[in-house]
Amino acid sequence: MEERVMSGIQPTGDIHIGNYLGAIKEWINLAEKYPSFYVIVDYHAITIPYKVEEFQNTILKSAMVNMACGLKPDKCLLFVQSYVPEHTELCWIFTTLTMVGRLFNMTQFKDKSKQHSQAVNAGLLNYPILQAADILIYKASLVPVGKDQYQHLELTREIARRFNSRFGKTFPEPTPCGKGLKIIGLDGKYKMSKSRGNHIAILDSPDVIKRKLKTAFTDPQRLRLSDPGRPEVCNIYSLHSFFTDKETINQIYEDCTKAKIGCVQCKMILAENIIKDLAPIQEEYHRLEKMPDYVQDFLFESAKKARVIAKQTIEEVKSKMGLSPKKYKVPPPLF
Ligand code: AQP
Repeated sequence: MEERVMSGIQPTGDIHIGNYLGAIKEWINLAEKYPSFYVIVDYHAITIPYKVEEFQNTILKSAMVNMACGLKPDKCLLFVQSYVPEHTELCWIFTTLTMVGRLFNMTQFKDKSKQHSQAVNAGLLNYPILQAADILIYKASLVPVGKDQYQHLELTREIARRFNSRFGKTFPEPTPCGKGLKIIGLDGKYKMSKSRGNHIAILDSPDVIKRKLKTAFTDPQRLRLSDPGRPEVCNIYSLHSFFTDKETINQIYEDCTKAKIGCVQCKMILAENIIKDLAPIQEEYHRLEKMPDYVQDFLFESAKKARVIAKQTIEEVKSKMGLSPKKYKVPPPLF
């Protein structure tokens, strides 16, 4: 069977350079080679508190940012998760194949339930099952995600294996692809994340990028402003490595030391490099912003195409599980 690619992004706020480097960049590469399904996962996003009145705008903006980064209508499908209800139908089926203890052990569940301790809902716990359904509904075998999602992907493989061994070979066991990055946020502590406010957003203006970097965490052992700090402690070095043509972090350090560039100057060089790389993306975003109908049509058209495959998978799954009336090979449409 042909290899397919699937990945998703939550419309939970500003898409940031962690999302871009860890996932979206790889999405664009893979879309050149494989049929690719990219999804704005709105059902995942509602597992944490959100503003109802802003939600549709956030979804559309997420689509525009992804398109501005390079997801083109002639290369891939980009749609909203709730437009294809088969995702949630398969999710329910998969809940019956997943042990609850496994879900309580997921790192993301533990982190999110600490972050949102007032509202630890069952959706947060079941999140990785819906993610497994998002992937397997398209029988995707390649999943470009950041390292933070590897544990969820392992669970997806387990669910696929369990289904296959109980009901007959149906799903591939998908593997992560890409560089497996984990971009650390400007606090130098946690993964760069929309909800922690430790990020540089793709759409941040040059002034905002400079201001955010000025206060970013550096090596606390630096004695002077001219001291560049230790690369193994200072996160600025690793951020540099994504926005320069220098080969390694050590090379960046050696060049800083030779040129007697201290941390402040180093941050401003980084700011300029990020601003330069984000400029064409921002320009394209502002162009798309003026064409919301074009973007919305791409989302609808993609969902229509994705749904053809999603329906086939659900029919196959129901039939194998004894959920189809005997008279029919597949359940008849009810209306
Ligand atoms: N810091 C990161 N480094 C590398 N990859 C990352 N990704 C996210 N943050 C990093 C990857 O981006 C894709 C989409 O992520 P998401 O928006 O669906 O969910 P998330 O991982 O939970 O992102 P955030 O920013 O942390 O959102 P909030 O704060 O709302 O939870 C995924 O492939 C992810 O690996």
